[in-house]
Amino acid sequence: MTRETWATRAGFILAAAGSAVGLGNIWRFPWVTADNGGSAFLLVYLAIVLLVGVPGLLGEFVLGRRGKKSPVGAFRDLSGSRTWGLWGVFYVVTAIALISFYSVVGGWILRYFGESALGLAGAQPAYFTEPGAYFGAASAGLDALGFHLLFLGLTAVVVYAGVRRGIELGTKVMMPAVLALLIGLAVWAGTRPGAAEAYAFYLSFDLATIRANFFDVLGPAAGQALFTLSLGAGTMITYASYIDEDRSLPFDGTVIAVLNTLVGVLAGLVVFPLLFSLGVDPSQTAPGPGALFVGLAGAFSQLPAGALVATAFFGVVVLAALSSSISMLEIPVSFLVDEYGLSRPQAVALVTVAVVVTGGICAINPTIAGVGVFGFVAGPLVDTLLTAGLAAVLVFVGWVMGRDAVTELRSGAGGVTDALATPWLLAAGVVLPIFLLFTLLTNFGVDASIGFWPTVGVAVLVAAAAFLGVRTDRSLV
Ligand code: PHE
Repeated sequence: MTRETWATRAGFILAAAGSAVGLGNIWRFPWVTADNGGSAFLLVYLAIVLLVGVPGLLGEFVLGRRGKKSPVGAFRDLSGSRTWGLWGVFYVVTAIALISFYSVVGGWILRYFGESALGLAGAQPAYFTEPGAYFGAASAGLDALGFHLLFLGLTAVVVYAGVRRGIELGTKVMMPAVLALLIGLAVWAGTRPGAAEAYAFYLSFDLATIRANFFDVLGPAAGQALFTLSLGAGTMITYASYIDEDRSLPFDGTVIAVLNTLVGVLAGLVVFPLLFSLGVDPSQTAPGPGALFVGLAGAFSQLPAGALVATAFFGVVVLAALSSSISMLEIPVSFLVDEYGLSRPQAVALVTVAVVVTGGICAINPTIAGVGVFGFVAGPLVDTLLTAGLAAVLVFVGWVMGRDAVTELRSGAGGVTDALATPWLLAAGVVLPIFLLFTLLTNFGVDASIGFWPTVGVAVLVAAAAFLGVRTDRSLV
């Protein structure tokens, strides 16, 4: 059986951008930003997207396009080592952890969408009256389980339809719709009273605040940057494995990162003015999974034509979430198809049944040893898995693929890439894994503020020295 490929170049870009743009941008980004001080967080986050996200994205692309397999096969075949192949299973596990909580949040969104659409018929959407209590009842338990199953079912249908007819076609419709609706909503939100305050909170960069808070926001900013770019989960490896032509990976990667950032910033331009117009100061509200639902639902309920705005908004979020969840489900599916020769329908069925159970546990959200399962999976677990996952990709690209990675990056790309390929490899192999290690440590509560700059400085020097060494050996460059 020949392996599936994308039908068009735009197909790959839109599918990968569709994976990146999701609940991470619209649900997670605004509250993580609010929680970490607004604009002070935003700048650090943007820097990490540029300096870590884009090179990281290229690492996954190079690995995927060269390997032409699911992460397991790609790691094994490119290294010739079974141990690296086993490491690939890590990404299958990460993907299952991701979709387990993601599909629960997707279920909440479906419910709010349905509720808002019902409200169009006349009666107010049920969540308008008591947003907090409504969310409390909807977010966990049997209801959440039911909507989780619905969302998972929709995801499975698209993945079942395959790379071209499902993922590519679906995201070609979803992505432009998401962008158009968000732009409309952001413009409209800008006309609300409170917009000026919101912009000040969100967009006024104050260097002193950034310096004072740098190490506090580092971990969350890095976690958010990886999550929103779908990095460290094997998604971009898998999607790049369906590319069958030589084209510029750096170009594609930049387009995807820019689109994704645009949507995140736009989501902030929608959410913050609405919150401020309600008199809600986002730095004061308890952030958390409910922030978007409770805050915005409250805002919508006070607006003329609130049900209509709410229907449009949650409609956008459903599409954005779906184009991400399919990219999570595709990782274990491609693993079963590539490694065990299952047919696509068999693989989709098997993985879906597994996630019915694992996601079901997140939906019911029992408390184990004092920790809620949902919050643990959606927060620390996923942050840690993604950070470790991307660090391993980069180490592999830098040390196992080495010059092959440079060749792969340059294939199909233009002159700028030729000049940047070697520095990229050294950043991937040395500087970025060290940076990711530090963010991992801060995730575990280690105070990394003392060793951070010296270590990064040494890493940059080592990389620069190695780069100069490589450059003088003309055969290599
Ligand atoms: N990037 C997606 C979002 O922002 C989430 C995601 C993470 C998707 C990892 C795939 C892999 O919603």
